[in-house]
Amino acid sequence: MDDRLQAQFNDQIALEHASERAYLQMAAWAEAHDFSGSAAWLRDQASEESTHAAMFIDFVLDRDGEVRLQALDAPDADFDTLLDVFRAALGHERRVTASIGALYATAHEVRDFASLPLLTRFLDEQVEEEASVSTIVGELAMVADDPSAVLMLDRELPGRRAAEGG
Ligand SMILES: [Fe+2]
Ligand SMILES: [Fe+2]
Repeated sequence: MDDRLQAQFNDQIALEHASERAYLQMAAWAEAHDFSGSAAWLRDQASEESTHAAMFIDFVLDRDGEVRLQALDAPDADFDTLLDVFRAALGHERRVTASIGALYATAHEVRDFASLPLLTRFLDEQVEEEASVSTIVGELAMVADDPSAVLMLDRELPGRRAAEGG
């Protein structure tokens, strides 16, 4: 595998692990603030990110590349509201989308066409992730001044995830 592409795959593995930790931290905030539905949703999200990292690791190994895990910064832990949490999640997903796009561009540039199907799959996945988080942000923004509505939305989130099959 091309050196630059391999380095970028390793960066992506680190970003997926950073995403896992970001969501675990958000889940801890949610649990501590009695938003148990959001906590469950965020924890599921964290385990999905762990799966993504594993998929990238497997891919690099399948291509006889070298996997190098990286040191990670502590995730953001300070949030004012549940809306802040999901806004942070949306910002994070957008960074991941940009990163996978950059990976796709490099794969194309170095003519590593074998990487493209995996990356296309992840780009599709990011469209779904951004859409579902963006919907939650929109809904929480709508009811932000009404604690009982925020609580109802919170309690509904785990079921929504099951319905999406995510
Ligand atoms: Fe991911
Ligand atoms: Fe994600």
